Amino acid sequence: MASRSSETPEALEPGDLAPVVEMPPTGAKGARLQEIFEEWVAELPPGSPIPSERDLAEHFGVARMTVRLQLDRLAQRGLLYRHRGRGTFVAERRVAHTEHLTSFTEDMRARGLEPGSRLIGIEEMRAGVDLAARLEISASSRVVRIRRVRTADAEPMAAEQTHVPARRFPGLVDAGLDHGSLYDLFEHRYGVQVADAVQRVTVSDLTAEEARLLDTEPGRPAFRIERTTRDSEGAVIEFASSVYRGDRYEVLMHAHRDHH
Ligand code: GLP
Repeated sequence: MASRSSETPEALEPGDLAPVVEMPPTGAKGARLQEIFEEWVAELPPGSPIPSERDLAEHFGVARMTVRLQLDRLAQRGLLYRHRGRGTFVAERRVAHTEHLTSFTEDMRARGLEPGSRLIGIEEMRAGVDLAARLEISASSRVVRIRRVRTADAEPMAAEQTHVPARRFPGLVDAGLDHGSLYDLFEHRYGVQVADAVQRVTVSDLTAEEARLLDTEPGRPAFRIERTTRDSEGAVIEFASSVYRGDRYEVLMHAHRDHH
């Protein structure tokens, strides 16, 4: 995908990779192809083109349908993506979003990525009716609005807008949130424990403004995650709206069934 860097990865010729792969007898060919493609995906930078189905079929001595089926499987798993008319490419590595209540910083670290933050704006304002309802405060109360671009390994991952009740976090505007973690400040500066959150996840395309912030193209799919966060006493401490790049992020859910 063009977003990761300006240089286009070199086209891959079938002969460049696995030139001496021994294909197993019929039946196991699909599984072997899957393995070979997985190795490519692991080794190639995101955005690298995969050779055409026809070239691959010829190179590995298998039917085109066999190749297509395996490429489809990898595309379904999000490891490759198809671009109609242009071919098949290695997808961005995705990052999972788990059921644990984590901060962005913890979420990225857990996945071996270096979290980062670019502050776009932090200001105090009047809550207004909608935000007041979200934060369970009166409409005339003050809130602090924080807008940040969150990065993983120095690449934009999400654009976030968070609102917190100003009364609960005095001096937050000047607390030096230029880079670090908001939840760290909550806990260490204000002694507020993040305890519980309800999240709503929807999907839609990136607007031009969001795409600019996230260093990608408008119209690309994105996850929109709203989080209402409470402290250990049940008071709302945050209402956040984040938009995550669909090519880099993944939402993983764990559901538990009780048997009575
Ligand atoms: C996630 C949540 C936000 C929260 C943020 C805190 O991204 N969606 O609601 O504000 O984590 O992250 P950090 O502590 O890294 O600033």
